[in-house]
Amino acid sequence: MTFEKHILCIGAGYVGGPTMAMIAFKCPQYKVTVVDINPERIAQWNSDTLPIYEPGLDEIVKARRGKNLFFSTEVEQRIQECEVIFVSVNTPTKTFGAGAGMAADLQYWDKTARQIRKCAQSNKIIVEKSTLPVKTAQAMKRILTCEDNGIRFDVLSNPEFLAEGTAIRDLEDPDRVLIGSTLTPNGIRARDVLVEIYANWVPRDRIVTSNIWSSELSKLVANAFLAQRISSINSISALCEKADADIEEVARAVGMDRRVGNRFLNASVGFGGSCFRKDILNLVYLCRYYDLKEVADYWEGVVRINDYQKERFILKMLDALFNTLADKKVCLFGFAFKADTGDTRESPAVFVASRLIEERATVVITDPKALKNAMKDLAGVAGDVSYVEDPYAASEGCSAIAVMTEWRIFSTLDYERIYRAMAKPAFIFDGRNILDHQRLFEIGFNVFPIGKPSLTHF
Ligand code: NAD
Ligand code: UGA
Repeated sequence: MTFEKHILCIGAGYVGGPTMAMIAFKCPQYKVTVVDINPERIAQWNSDTLPIYEPGLDEIVKARRGKNLFFSTEVEQRIQECEVIFVSVNTPTKTFGAGAGMAADLQYWDKTARQIRKCAQSNKIIVEKSTLPVKTAQAMKRILTCEDNGIRFDVLSNPEFLAEGTAIRDLEDPDRVLIGSTLTPNGIRARDVLVEIYANWVPRDRIVTSNIWSSELSKLVANAFLAQRISSINSISALCEKADADIEEVARAVGMDRRVGNRFLNASVGFGGSCFRKDILNLVYLCRYYDLKEVADYWEGVVRINDYQKERFILKMLDALFNTLADKKVCLFGFAFKADTGDTRESPAVFVASRLIEERATVVITDPKALKNAMKDLAGVAGDVSYVEDPYAASEGCSAIAVMTEWRIFSTLDYERIYRAMAKPAFIFDGRNILDHQRLFEIGFNVFPIGKPSLTHF
């Protein structure tokens, strides 16, 4: 079969895999290949057990794999045959040298750009899918074009806004697709190629084009705004606990103002995920680089409140359990950073588990999809930790349950049964406000929600 277009994606992770599966699903006329340097990951993409859990992903991968969707480790060969190359490699926070702990580590991007230059034998459109600091496209263009070999590289910015757990829905029906380009004739021609790809299923009025720096920056700012809403509501949750107000009532009243809106106002133990923290720190680093101290401090506050909220959660547990957790069994309901994913990157549960271990508690973790990742995350932590799939078995003999992830299953459990099997007095710390607190109190639990008065029998 001959295809209209050959599309490549370098990086087969949480973004590369699902986004390319969606393009292949919506555009059978294109051949879509996803490559990665990690052979194990590619083998999983080619197997019945995909490397990531995402509702709806299995179906679309199985529908297109082997037809117009391919996963491969042959990075160099594939670069040669594709005219549009998405780059979706990881851009974690730098852990060394200048900017350590703040700036984006661009080494994977840099290496990819050099590899593309080395292998390319014809003109290419390079699409920034990873989240990158503003002005990265300029650096990429310089790396790509430093050898005058007659090949033209057009660099576009096309940041991804999918959220894990709803990735397939987000990709199928996005609020917007953002495409940034240079405004030269070549830049606009490249931009139009990408617009045409998305226009196969995304309404034209939701495909937004902009200058390339606005596009790069919009991605960081979008994540910063979303995280800022969570930190705002979480900061007020602390005040609610002091003032006997109820954070859900406050959030409802505030969010009903259409200028504010009601989404992303759920108070929690803190936000997690691989991106919010890293992207805000990256934004803060950029502001400091440009000598915008006040702006940097403002956004850094979002991360500080998140750290405060996680620490507050632990201190509340310690206080409620009579100032010692040593040898007490604590069960974490959930380890994923949010429901409907197995991803545990930057999950508040990693922090809470580590702090519980520091306090010498015995930790039992239950999660429907994230136990494997939890084991990896805590592999280096010396302490008494166990992993149990069944929440009833996991909570048996525990003094406390801490809800870390808003998995639906946790709100449907038989808490009378759970209470009977726990050590007394029994405590529940609902880090997601998903349980029926009054009912739990009536069963006999001492209940500590976020941003609401606690319900205790003492
Ligand atoms: P990931 O770690 O899951 O995947 C990145 C993949 O790139 C890895 O499999 C890695 O092996 C591969 N890789 C690294 N260097 C390579 C190279 N030189 N050649 C080939 N493969 C290489 O990361 P992710 O979560 O998919 O995120 C990727 C980017 O997308 C990041 O910049 C992130 O900020 C951004 N993003 C992520 C999400 C999300 O929900 N995870 C959403 C929007 C944007
Ligand atoms: C987030 C953004 O929502 C995506 O648009 C973006 O593409 C992505 O980051 C990225 O760049 O990686 P994601 O981290 O997958 O997506 O999930 P979110 O739904 O944003 O949740 C992030 C964290 O905030 C989770 O820990 C979640 O539980 C928490 N959260 C979310 C709250 O505590 N309260 C809320 O009201 C909403």
